[in-house]
Amino acid sequence: MSESNQRVALVTGATSGIGLAVARLLAKQGHRVFIGARNADNVKETVQKLRDEALEVDGTTLDVRSMESVRAFVQGAVARFGTIDVLVNNAGRSGGGITADISDDLWNDVIETNLNSVFRITREVLGPGGMRQKKWGRIINIASTAGKQGVILGAPYSASKHGVVGFTKALGNELAPTGITVNAVCPGYVETPMAARVRQGYAAAYKSTEEEILTKFQAKIPLGRYSTPEEVAGLVGYLATDTAGSITAQALNVCGGLGNF
Ligand SMILES: NC(=O)c1ccc[n+]([C@@H]2O[C@H](COP(=O)([O-])OP(=O)(O)OC[C@H]3O[C@@H](n4cnc5c(N)ncnc54)[C@H](OP(=O)(O)O)[C@@H]3O)[C@@H](O)[C@H]2O)c1
Repeated sequence: MSESNQRVALVTGATSGIGLAVARLLAKQGHRVFIGARNADNVKETVQKLRDEALEVDGTTLDVRSMESVRAFVQGAVARFGTIDVLVNNAGRSGGGITADISDDLWNDVIETNLNSVFRITREVLGPGGMRQKKWGRIINIASTAGKQGVILGAPYSASKHGVVGFTKALGNELAPTGITVNAVCPGYVETPMAARVRQGYAAAYKSTEEEILTKFQAKIPLGRYSTPEEVAGLVGYLATDTAGSITAQALNVCGGLGNF
């Protein structure tokens, strides 16, 4: 692809874990990639790191919970690289506990970060981001196997990810005639900083150690290990290709066999 028709990809939460692996792969595939996350230093460092790998990447701070921030992020991306072809809604947080003890603040923040944000950014990309005017587009939402089955002590997280899967299926059907596909990628356990925080949370809740929790979780995965961020990114990279044009309104697992649905 020549520089002028390089596709433009947005990746939220791309300074760590899955988002970083996705940004790197999409850039290696020839996309111009615009990234965002809340920590400005991490955004700067990540952009520099990827540029040092000869990839075409830029980015800015973004808080997916704020409409104002989302608007500025999409505007910044369009000003820098042009209208958006590929959107990867990846930013997210864990969150749960004993449901009877969950505060409104925790519940609302998980739903804002993981679910409301996906609607907010998608609408902004379809409209001001220019995707709606095109005959081709890719919207890829990083949900979770927790978006298909309930996770103990994870009610807010599970509810938010089920919401993402529902949104994906509805919008995928709605946009199918337009050439824009909408899919969810559902990771199981993936070794990232978030996964380490999740193990800490369960260790505290079960009065256990993080090592014991790791062993317990690995035993649940038929493959016997966590997936890697690169393995999740690989499916995102495929969904962003022309060949994936007939895959839409799906929620596809990358989970070592954890989810059979
Ligand atoms: N790891 C797993 O086992 C697993 C399994 C299933 C699904 N997932 C999903 O995969 C996605 C990525 O997870 P990960 O494990 O890679 O997490 P991670 O390592 O914690 O990275 C999360 C990224 O999202 C950004 N972020 C968090 N809150 C944000 C906000 N309000 N606005 C903008 N950016 C925000 C973080 O940067 P800042 O903190 O600087 O904002 C960071 O770049 C999430 O949606 C998660 O739910 C993960």
